[in-house]
Amino acid sequence: MLRIRIPASTANLGSGFDSLGIALDLYNYIEIGPALGCEISSADGSNIPAGEDNLIYLSAKKVYEKAGLPFYGLKIIEENNIPFARGLGSSSACIAGGVFGANELLGRPFDKDELLDIAAEIEGHPDNVSPALLGGFTACAMENGRVKYVKSNIGSELVFVAFVPPFELKTADARAALPANVSVKDSVYNLSRSALITASLLSGKYENLSTGCDDKLHQPYRLPLIPDGEKIMEESYKYGVLAAYISGAGSTMMAIFRTEKAEAENIAQKILSSENFSGWKYFILNADNSGAAAL
Ligand code: HSE
Repeated sequence: MLRIRIPASTANLGSGFDSLGIALDLYNYIEIGPALGCEISSADGSNIPAGEDNLIYLSAKKVYEKAGLPFYGLKIIEENNIPFARGLGSSSACIAGGVFGANELLGRPFDKDELLDIAAEIEGHPDNVSPALLGGFTACAMENGRVKYVKSNIGSELVFVAFVPPFELKTADARAALPANVSVKDSVYNLSRSALITASLLSGKYENLSTGCDDKLHQPYRLPLIPDGEKIMEESYKYGVLAAYISGAGSTMMAIFRTEKAEAENIAQKILSSENFSGWKYFILNADNSGAAAL
């Protein structure tokens, strides 16, 4: 059996809808090996789909199909640490883990860019699967089914405080809340800011991040689906956050600080005790710059 580690990811970064993402050092682990049929179990007791509709299994099978090789089945043991349906890339970690694991088992018929194309095809957008596979900060665009991307490492001076609420928000529901059309004015608002985030992260001009993460395409429509989400953002700004935004499609609220992890933890505790944020938890994270890896 092959053991694989896959990072969580935070997508959109506010204005970079469906295009920007950062991998985080919170990991799922998968053991994967050949089998006759579908054998899926959980190492941590979480309730997972154990049939052929399991996302890791489906994604791995897709790699066999794309490689034109016969598929007889797989044994998969999952250890899930990334919370489900909370905007931290748990689905993308399954997809990235499945395609990466199958590619390793098959002796690497595909390079990482080709694997990323397969993963993005399965996910439908590249902003979580790219950092999950490649690590770091990724800026992506889809062209003719291929992911065009730039990956850049993120230093440990940036600390990501993920405020995770006690409720799920399914990506499909969060996408259904979005309007079908947007104005040119709002489009310009977002494209200027997503360019600003990208340039600021690459150059270290972090003081631009709060402006860069502002958004008019999805957050105004999704915040009503995240009770207390806006309050968490407001509280974060009282403690000098660089930027606060809905992580991916939500429900997690992400706050980026430039500080030590211990100080970020102190701030997170103060924020959650400042009001009655019942059931919210936090993770104190750095970026992961490695992406999916065989251990
Ligand atoms: N870009 C996606 C969205 C991320 O916001 O819907 C969640 O998969």
